[in-house]
Amino acid sequence: MSFSTDWLALRAPFDATARAAALEARLADWSARRGAGRVLSVVDLGAGSGNNLAHLAPRLPAKQRWTLIDADTALLAEAARRHPGVEIRAGDLAADLERLIPEGTDLVTASALIDLVSGAWLDRLAARVRAVGCALLVVLTYDGRIAWESDTAADAGIRALVNRHQRGDKGFGPALGPDAPAALRNLLPGTETAVSDWEIGPAETAMRTALVDSWAGAAAEIAPERAETIEPWRRFASDQPRALTVGHADQLWLPPFDTPRGQLGAG
Ligand SMILES: C[S@@+](CC[C@H](N)C(=O)[O-])C[C@H]1O[C@@H](n2cnc3c(N)ncnc32)[C@H](O)[C@@H]1O
Repeated sequence: MSFSTDWLALRAPFDATARAAALEARLADWSARRGAGRVLSVVDLGAGSGNNLAHLAPRLPAKQRWTLIDADTALLAEAARRHPGVEIRAGDLAADLERLIPEGTDLVTASALIDLVSGAWLDRLAARVRAVGCALLVVLTYDGRIAWESDTAADAGIRALVNRHQRGDKGFGPALGPDAPAALRNLLPGTETAVSDWEIGPAETAMRTALVDSWAGAAAEIAPERAETIEPWRRFASDQPRALTVGHADQLWLPPFDTPRGQLGAG
């Protein structure tokens, strides 16, 4: 599954507005404590063109060293251009997750990733986060809600197909899709969850059209026999200036003992 730099740039301002400020504030407090007198090591999984770093790094009151990981080298090249000096690592998270989160990592973060992964992979992520003793911030996980102003039966039909498509294999085994936030809460009790919905106004034509095209494509892929109803819906939903909410969740898990590693055993 590939994502273009244009798409990631288009969604970035909607992501930034949607992200749960309360969880960022909790993480900022934790970072100030954990990062006192040292440099926080942050690993961004599925970093793409570097939007998560651009948003989050200035909000953490600590010195930070980020590593951006992605399988898509074109997106990583864009990330390197935007964030000179940041460590960039090409890698397959499905195959090499544990190696890509080294001992000494303080924070693992991922934006718009965990709805793509399987339950088994999320289990591996939770186990690695516990083993390393780092914090985990995952943001902008799609949760299955697509709500149009004046929602129609056709909208509901497409939504159901999109959510079926969400559960297909995206390279990690059968994807959790909208079940991902609940799965993470089960794997890491104590995880805080907050709403981070996209609110797309009627005049946001480029975003609406991009989403409608992508949802129509997903629906046609999963139900090719319904192509004759999907195409008229695509034209209608693209052209009509309706407000739209797309449901997302942000989640934060902090390790139970957040003593900086360098101080463990001291005294
Ligand atoms: C929806 S994009 C999000 C990108 C970025 N985090 C953001 O918020 O702008 C998902 C990202 O996950 C990456 N990805 C998907 N499967 C991957 C895998 N198996 N290994 C590494 N990266 C992967 C994609 O290349 C893409 O950059």
